[in-house]
Amino acid sequence: MDLYEYQAKQLFAHYGVPTQLGEVATTPAEARAAAERFGCPVVVKAQVKIGGRGKAGGVRLAADPAAAYTVASEILGLDIRGHIVHRVLITPAEQIAEEYYVSFLVDRAERGLLCMASVSGGIDIEQVAAETPERLVRVPVDAISGLTDAQAAEICAAADFPVAVRPAVADVLLALWQVFTAGDALLVEVNPLVRTPDDRIVALDGKVTLDDNAFFRHPDYAQFEDPTATDPLEQAAAERDLNYVKLDGEVGVIGNGAGLVMSTLDVVAYAGERFGGVRPANFLDIGGGASAKVMADGLEIVLSDPDVTCVLVNVFGGITACDAVADGIVGALAMLADRGTPVTRPIVVRLDGNNAAAGRRILAEANLPTVELIETMDAAAARAAELAYHARPATSA
Ligand SMILES: Nc1ncnc2c1ncn2[C@@H]1O[C@H](COP(=O)(O)OP(=O)(O)O)[C@@H](O)[C@H]1O
Ligand SMILES: [Mg+2]
Repeated sequence: MDLYEYQAKQLFAHYGVPTQLGEVATTPAEARAAAERFGCPVVVKAQVKIGGRGKAGGVRLAADPAAAYTVASEILGLDIRGHIVHRVLITPAEQIAEEYYVSFLVDRAERGLLCMASVSGGIDIEQVAAETPERLVRVPVDAISGLTDAQAAEICAAADFPVAVRPAVADVLLALWQVFTAGDALLVEVNPLVRTPDDRIVALDGKVTLDDNAFFRHPDYAQFEDPTATDPLEQAAAERDLNYVKLDGEVGVIGNGAGLVMSTLDVVAYAGERFGGVRPANFLDIGGGASAKVMADGLEIVLSDPDVTCVLVNVFGGITACDAVADGIVGALAMLADRGTPVTRPIVVRLDGNNAAAGRRILAEANLPTVELIETMDAAAARAAELAYHARPATSA
């Protein structure tokens, strides 16, 4: 999960990285009130999860509270390369003598952890790397021994930080290493890390990507989740522990195993080419369990998408046998009828693998009016695409 700048700075402060927390505002009036509290000038900063906000007009100076109001009203609602600004961060304007760059990241190519540092910060680091690569030092850090005081000092020397600020920058590196490791991040980047005229070192920007796999160690990270940015169906699915991704087609897809579901999406899109460009409406992996409860939750989520006109259930029985899946489907339809949301849209089911014959028999005997059994994956996808095509409203000529 990527953090907003203001969240990254909260994490920085927690681990002792010198920064300005500022105040988040969602309206121009809140921005003006924050500016009054801080004293001016202030900087008004768009909070979007994309870099280059400065160049896009999303970071602006305000000389007084009235200007903070005006600037905030101009930044709020701005579209920064597809990201709409819903919040701004108000921070005191800092006097800047120099702008540096520092980061810690996972270097996948080298299978290790990497520290990068440059005295040419403030601008795109990709540009520094391309045009003056000698000004960007890259130092591997051992994951087990961690960043040592000596190594932090070496990085500062190698990157040619001014001698006067090397101890302070080294301290920042050590604190950022804590954000990176104790905080379970995949990326921690500060650009710019500034030197003030009185030689303080302050992180004026922050970019952090947290490792979702470590969230169980950080219950407090729930505060960083952004319900406004998540699709409501994806949110509902996550609450039921379902692995669901909303797409923009019409055929709802439910399968077991991420690989099978991915290829089901391909097969549906391919079959859909013959049916007016019908496409899959979602990715939903119900995993190993195929109980009536899981199947009912899955169907409920998929069918709450109003664009879905037909569902394809594609299951390859492995550890979970097909007869259990078939029982799950029968149970799910009964359960949904009980919940007051009986399924009326067609469901195409393909069962193969462990106990497929028994599974098909269960479904055939249940004689469910909305369920249609098809033996192969290709034929099932084609049938689903056809049903979705015919469910389209007739276009008036
Ligand atoms: N609090 C601040 N005080 C003074 N200048 C700032 C402040 N925050 C940002 N800036 C200036 O704006 C530039 C861009 O801001 P930054 O937070 O790095 O956004 P982005 O990287 O998305 O463009 C910085 O390089 C810095 O020169
Ligand atoms: Mg920046």
